[in-house]
Amino acid sequence: ESTLRDVADEREFTIGTAIDPDSLRRDPSYWKTASSEFNAVTPENALKMGPLRPSRHTYDFRDADAVVNFGRENDMTVRGHTLVWHNQKPEWFQAWDYTDEQLRQFLREHIHTVVGRYRETVDAWDVVNEAVADDGSMRRTVWSDALGEDYLEEAFTWAREVNPDADLYYNDYGADEINEKSDAIYDLLEGLLERDVPIDGVGLQLHALGDHPDPDSIAENIERFRDLGLEVQITEMDVAFHADDVPADALEIQADYYREVVEACLEAGCDTIVTWDVHDANSWLRSFKDFGERYSGDPLLFDDRYERKPAYYAVRDAL
Ligand code: XIL
Repeated sequence: ESTLRDVADEREFTIGTAIDPDSLRRDPSYWKTASSEFNAVTPENALKMGPLRPSRHTYDFRDADAVVNFGRENDMTVRGHTLVWHNQKPEWFQAWDYTDEQLRQFLREHIHTVVGRYRETVDAWDVVNEAVADDGSMRRTVWSDALGEDYLEEAFTWAREVNPDADLYYNDYGADEINEKSDAIYDLLEGLLERDVPIDGVGLQLHALGDHPDPDSIAENIERFRDLGLEVQITEMDVAFHADDVPADALEIQADYYREVVEACLEAGCDTIVTWDVHDANSWLRSFKDFGERYSGDPLLFDDRYERKPAYYAVRDAL
């Protein structure tokens, strides 16, 4: 029987998964499933600034290397996630009394070092993650405060300087369908392109938690970004339900939704979907904040014991 990866390879489709390095080391079923069923990886946390920067002048690349090397050894595409984000910054940041220029130099050095280290091994970077607030305004963060609103332009330029071959992405959540936020991101990216900022694509996270964005609207949204000349990837997909409103046939509804998204993606000319980890037991919904109480916690293609779920077959059949 063909694996999901076999079918995706055949169709030249990229089907990826987020990867957690501890599971990789500890659990043979984890890496076996990841490498036989997916042809792409994204380190789920290991390339974020917090995990990478134990102190202001040092790096700890062990976890990031483990995931990136796993991907390369298994001929998988590697997405680097993420260089500039307001979350998961290092703890010591809080106590650092920096000047704006110091922070700018710090970020520049960070991007140069990290992108440079993985020049041969990371195919695409989420250069900036979640810069737009839910109402469509620019999110105020340490980066926008210190570098000014033009920080996106600088970040993309610094990444391109070190790796002209990697595809450079803007990545965000809640912008999967046509709405206020995706409108704002559209305007933002259109502006960057007009100013010749080196950006290649937009990542739609597609955390369908409770509310499931309309697949037709997703297709339309993908098309408009592609018309701007950008690639579009679905970068962090998972499908859950509100905990107090889980339908009896949740697994079937989940499978239908995954299938509709694959179809929307194909129809609109997107060639990549990444799920946010391999199996339900590793989903961030189980451990993040109060998400365990808010959402059903079985959002992925494989269940806790690595059994293929209806959603798995739905994706495989749709490809
Ligand atoms: C999540 C991880 O899955 C968790 O393990 C971590 O505790 C918090 O971050 N948007 C993103 C991802 O871009 O990096 C987030 O990942 C989920 C939301």
